[in-house]
Amino acid sequence: MKNSKVALLGAGRMGQIHLANTLSLGIDVAYVYDPELSLTSLGKRSGVLSRITNDLDYILKDESVNACIIAAPSSHHVNLIEKCARARKAVFCEKPVSFDENSLLNIKQILKETNIPFQVGFNRRFDPGIVRIQRAIASNAIGKLNVIKITNRDPLRPRLDFVKNSGGLFFDFTIHDFDMVHFIANEKIAEIYAVADALIEPKLRDLSDVDTAIVSIKMPSGTMVVIDCSRETGYGYDQRIEIFGSKGVASLNNIRASHVVFENQHGALLDNIESGFIERYRFSYREQLRTFFENISTTRMLSPGIEEVLSAVRVCQAALVSAKENRSVAV
Ligand SMILES: NC(=O)c1ccc[n+]([C@@H]2O[C@H](COP(=O)([O-])OP(=O)(O)OC[C@H]3O[C@@H](n4cnc5c(N)ncnc54)[C@H](O)[C@@H]3O)[C@@H](O)[C@H]2O)c1
Repeated sequence: MKNSKVALLGAGRMGQIHLANTLSLGIDVAYVYDPELSLTSLGKRSGVLSRITNDLDYILKDESVNACIIAAPSSHHVNLIEKCARARKAVFCEKPVSFDENSLLNIKQILKETNIPFQVGFNRRFDPGIVRIQRAIASNAIGKLNVIKITNRDPLRPRLDFVKNSGGLFFDFTIHDFDMVHFIANEKIAEIYAVADALIEPKLRDLSDVDTAIVSIKMPSGTMVVIDCSRETGYGYDQRIEIFGSKGVASLNNIRASHVVFENQHGALLDNIESGFIERYRFSYREQLRTFFENISTTRMLSPGIEEVLSAVRVCQAALVSAKENRSVAV
């Protein structure tokens, strides 16, 4: 793992998390590539100033680089994956990779031809609480699954310029929930009904996007799933899961700075829940990269990989059609 030499492509919010985590794993970040950001201040902060370049071809020709981390805007993922794969670099790419099934199938073919390891940033699969739930379900500790309830609410609406390249609520945000359902229930979503609107930021309608959605899902096994999704709470990053089965219930509640309860004559006060994705999922972001670097020299079949993206993107497409046409859609 420590022998890896990495190029980071895209150094915005997510790229900077990947940069810090990669360095903290003791891995050499040979290059940081970002055509738009002022990289000088980032380089000074992170100690990688001498490795910053805006010449992607130069990076990809460097044979000592064996892996690329892609954290560019979502609309650039496909193009960057193809370039990195053709240059024979292992690829870790942020979700959603593509908004389109055909271009994902094309990427799948390129990965097959080039035989390079590929992992996607479905980071929740590395969150200790979600892993605990997945294992409990797999060992039948919760019994037959009747209902899965997921709350996924962002603290603050995204920048409108971010939304333009994001693919919209389902591809950018709810995709994590769809993949998480596949992961914990160990079966694929077959049918979906989504109700969605721009209740918080009406300007999203001009971008054909929404900020609030309720998604109902029927799994092939009969398990019912409901996902409650919002782009703004004002009280933090609301991330809850409840699994109700024939043997009991498993709940993963929000994480707080402490469990202290302050009480006085007016009532009780708890510490705030985590403020955003960076704080809530910090462990999972590092753990997914640790797994990536640990495995790239020994296996081509990383997980979550292209098949997991294909499954989740198909659900996003179905959700979009369902919300537009106000009907249940088969995936
Ligand atoms: N897994 C998660 O929890 C999570 C959370 C947030 C974002 N993301 C994903 O990470 C990706 C980046 O999101 P972000 O929030 O960091 O966005 P951002 O806008 O903060 O950063 C994107 C960066 O990429 C740069 N860029 C633009 N074109 C580029 C190109 N062709 N090559 C390389 N860099 C380029 C931009 O200059 C910018 O600095 C998106 O795909 C998003 O879906 C994932």
